[in-house]
Amino acid sequence: NWNMENFIADQIELVREQVGDKKVLLALSGGVDSSVVAALLLKAIGDQLTCVHVNHGLLRKGEAEQVVEVFQKQLGANLVYVDASERFLGKLAGVADPEQKRKIIGAEFIRVFEEEARKLDGIEFLAQGTIYPDIVESGTKTAKMVKSHHNVGGLPDDLQFELVEPLKMLFKDEVRACGVALGLPDNMVYRQPFPGPGLGVRCLGAITRERLEAVRESDAILREEFANAGLQGKVWQYFTVVPDFKSVGVRDNARSFEYPVILRAVNTIDAMTASIEPLDWALLEKITQRITHEVPGVNRVLYDLTPKPVGTIEWE
Ligand code: XMP
Repeated sequence: NWNMENFIADQIELVREQVGDKKVLLALSGGVDSSVVAALLLKAIGDQLTCVHVNHGLLRKGEAEQVVEVFQKQLGANLVYVDASERFLGKLAGVADPEQKRKIIGAEFIRVFEEEARKLDGIEFLAQGTIYPDIVESGTKTAKMVKSHHNVGGLPDDLQFELVEPLKMLFKDEVRACGVALGLPDNMVYRQPFPGPGLGVRCLGAITRERLEAVRESDAILREEFANAGLQGKVWQYFTVVPDFKSVGVRDNARSFEYPVILRAVNTIDAMTASIEPLDWALLEKITQRITHEVPGVNRVLYDLTPKPVGTIEWE
């Protein structure tokens, strides 16, 4: 009979049979799938696993810190933490085209991961958080591919490892249940989807530090207020976007000329179509008040009412 405990016990057995006493490498983004794989492999092979967390500087507030806290400090994993923020920002400087930005982020991610992989000796296996919908053509996958999806990419030929993919027969809700059974924190297991290029495609046009921080800080406020309102886990995806133009405002009796923040909150089944979450007016006002007072360089907040189609979920 199929239940999560049996599934986990079986996978632990299978992984041990597959890898023997060899070493396994995992790119641990902190997303649901790679986090659950990491937790499962830690149970199965402990020290034989090395996780690499590449911080491309486009992660949400507190995300990289949580990966280090949970996997290195609490679960005792071998974790290589690479802060590559400056490197990514350098490559992205002046690049305004969304597809170009995705390509740069994807390619640079592979390069950083490859460099770390080369520093490690005797790795024979590469673990991946592949899940069932990644194998069959799902809506989400197709939607991602329209925007040249680059989460996992090609390593060079001399770095080809045998794959370990213990979640490849699971659907997303089963992956979450697996994560819960393995003791991962709820906010890691029930995270909303987050694109590989991260905040990079929410800081519209050519990325600047100032606007990137405005995206990160406003996103943190939005998530906090959604959690306070009991909306966490109920709305499919919600985030903020910062465009690359300014508008005039007034603050402390003086003229201001600052960026707007756009709020987006959508529900969907398969990411192919999406509808707008009808947010409570008082909540919108509270979020607006907080963002315009707490986020430097922001003097306006807008709520995007566009369903998909005709908009996409992301702005780039
Ligand atoms: P769109 O904007 O196409 O987004 O309606 C549909 C879903 O896909 C996510 N998305 C991405 N995920 N890499 C990803 O891993 C990407 O380049 C990418 N672009 C969009 C988006 O967040 C939404 O959940």
